[in-house]
Amino acid sequence: MSELISDIEGGIRTVDASVDASHGILLYLEGVTVSFDGFKAIDNLSLYIGDGELRCIIGPNGAGKTTMMDIITGKTKPDTGRVFFGQTIDLLQLDEPAIARIGIGRKFQKPTVIEPLSVLENLELAMSGAKYLRGLMTTRLTGEERERIGAVLERIGLSDLAQRQAGILAHGQKQWLEIGMLLMQQPRLLLVDEPVAGMTPAEMERTAELLNSLAGEHSVVVVEHDMGFVRSIADKVTVLHQGRVLAEGTLEEVQADPKVIEVYLGDDHAAH
Ligand SMILES: Nc1ncnc2c1ncn2[C@@H]1O[C@H](COP(=O)(O)OP(=O)(O)OP(=O)(O)O)[C@@H](O)[C@H]1O
Ligand SMILES: [Mg+2]
Repeated sequence: MSELISDIEGGIRTVDASVDASHGILLYLEGVTVSFDGFKAIDNLSLYIGDGELRCIIGPNGAGKTTMMDIITGKTKPDTGRVFFGQTIDLLQLDEPAIARIGIGRKFQKPTVIEPLSVLENLELAMSGAKYLRGLMTTRLTGEERERIGAVLERIGLSDLAQRQAGILAHGQKQWLEIGMLLMQQPRLLLVDEPVAGMTPAEMERTAELLNSLAGEHSVVVVEHDMGFVRSIADKVTVLHQGRVLAEGTLEEVQADPKVIEVYLGDDHAAH
């Protein structure tokens, strides 16, 4: 697959958009700083996400977690630093749509499913918006497309509800459908910001299973406050604080870290 992107001089060149993660790292952030009116929301942040890794990012309110995702997806451009997708793709040279096209999907907290359409139609639309505009609803899907949709329905646990209108799904089911819509684009990296907010315990458990099942095939970065949930999925946890990495390791390791205990002191989230 080729992408047209602008190079540093502003010209257009064609690059091979296949991601080179041959060193085992899919995403590199190095020395990244972002200031808003002189306040450093991200302060010399360096972070590496492994190929196929499931990483949890935790940290107090205002630590810079969402801003970090904004940088990766091109919504916010940093003042300094390097952001690379694999060895060769400089994300700072790409705009938001280009970053999405090369395989970085982001799930926002509020689901953006199209409520009047069925679960199946939402997935069809996510597979190819352009095709939909040409009248996909009346066009036969290819066998391969049908298979991909079936696999995603199964993955998100909504096979039996494929014909149901998205608007009447339960909160958790809508969130899973949205993850399914991202999966239709076959992203290499998925960014998920606070996925279990507002979910029932049963929905949280199912979401943990779903995210765990994605690791390996995809790299997944999950920002979450709910420590019970983090415990159920996390392999490696990064604690952000004041726009920097405060600690990194297993959840047990970071929870035992005096620096982390200090930052979370008096914070309800640390009580677990
Ligand atoms: N567009 C912006 N303009 C000005 N300040 C901003 C902007 N975006 C974020 N900030 C500030 O940057 C800091 C980091 O915000 P961010 O939303 O990344 O934190 P967070 O870790 O996601 O917090 P939370 O856990 O509450 O979601 C905050 O102090 C926030 O007020
Ligand atoms: Mg946030």
